[in-house]
Amino acid sequence: MSRFNESRLKNSDKAILSVIGLGYVGLVTAAGFGLKGHKVIGVDVDEEKIEGLCNGLSPLYEEGLDEAIKNMDFTATKDYQAVLDTNITFLCVNTPSHSDGSMNLTYLKKATEQLAEALRQKNASHLVVVRSTVTPGTTEEVIVPILRDSGDPEICVNPEFLREGKALHDFMNPSRIVIGDGDGKSGDLLQELYRDFGCPILRTDLNTAEMIKYASNAFLATKISFINEIGNICKKMGIDVYEVTRGMGHDERIGNQFLNAGIGFGGSCLPKDLKGIVARAREVGYEPRILNEVLGLNEEQPLKMVELLKKHIPLLKGKVIGVLGLAFKPDTDDIRDSKAIAIVEGLLEEGAQVRAYDPKAMPNFKKYYPHIDYKSPEEVLKSDATLILTEWDEFKNLDYTNRVIIDGRRILNARKARIYEGICW
Ligand code: UDX
Repeated sequence: MSRFNESRLKNSDKAILSVIGLGYVGLVTAAGFGLKGHKVIGVDVDEEKIEGLCNGLSPLYEEGLDEAIKNMDFTATKDYQAVLDTNITFLCVNTPSHSDGSMNLTYLKKATEQLAEALRQKNASHLVVVRSTVTPGTTEEVIVPILRDSGDPEICVNPEFLREGKALHDFMNPSRIVIGDGDGKSGDLLQELYRDFGCPILRTDLNTAEMIKYASNAFLATKISFINEIGNICKKMGIDVYEVTRGMGHDERIGNQFLNAGIGFGGSCLPKDLKGIVARAREVGYEPRILNEVLGLNEEQPLKMVELLKKHIPLLKGKVIGVLGLAFKPDTDDIRDSKAIAIVEGLLEEGAQVRAYDPKAMPNFKKYYPHIDYKSPEEVLKSDATLILTEWDEFKNLDYTNRVIIDGRRILNARKARIYEGICW
């Protein structure tokens, strides 16, 4: 069987790709390859999303995504038959967690089965790329068996390392590309597709590629819990942890990134992936120690904000407490696993009246907490005390004088407050 897509790549520099699952990873992957001039067909079950995309509307906010989708050669459909017009299919279906942290593969399995059914009608070779985040062993044990009887496509794992808000930028400027396959050859075509991304391309087996993703996110999460722990010690001793990290970061073996102490890590990836690898480790008979502690520290860290507040206002019942920042990080409206949730819960449990502001995330927060007050930042600052939970740029220029501020994110200007406490400094 000729690998016509490989020669096609060499001849015209263009490929026709399909992407199954048009969530955050799928859309960014589609848009990224679109920016490189490739034609992309997207497949998703959500009709509304497809209709919007066909009219050039992105269903989610990511810097540059709207423009990329409008300008590229892109179509979206519900019909899996569309993959037959393409040579490479990226599986980007989401993999939510079960309550024990293990992965719920229902959607991914279903998508793979539908892909397998379509591919049975294909006579030419096809490459399937697993880009959904799956714990080590999943492709070999779950995906490969489903696809085996469907023309025997080539199968690779190609994890993404995209930061929310900067995902398209990260796609176009990757630190590395990891391609795992089972035979040392299936990844050749994908390597060809990535050839002008100007970064190292690492070839591994399937399980290793999957583990690289989890190990990377677990390491980032560990850095944060590590520095939060050092910060908690610093706080007790009157030392500024940010001065400490400045001194550490010059050592290239340590580096200065991901050492911002604060209220802990949230978002859709770090907490979920960490729980995922812990659950997988248990399945293979290993009880992780460091990773469990990283998670435990991350659960406790936000509650320190309420403890610090109570140092100044011992009885929170009936007090108005301001919250600046609800998103899990700045420049997003995403509140998934945001530490603001645990903190607002803590305040409500103590009987406080919460008054909150976030530049983008208020509508999302309102869905879960309709009964707290949503006000302007100036109004929020009039509360009995205010907690800073996200480092939005606009918080840097507020007037904090005469206020009581507990800072979870190191907003320097807030030090001008009448009473100022940093969580780890
Ligand atoms: C992360 C990884 O960075 C990315 O490579 C991966 O593929 C997906 O998960 P993202 O979830 O977008 O990306 O957020 P990120 O910018 O990494 O921040 C995660 C959380 O850690 C945020 O809540 C942030 O506030 C917190 N954080 C980050 C810190 O508390 N301190 C730091 O020094 C860095």
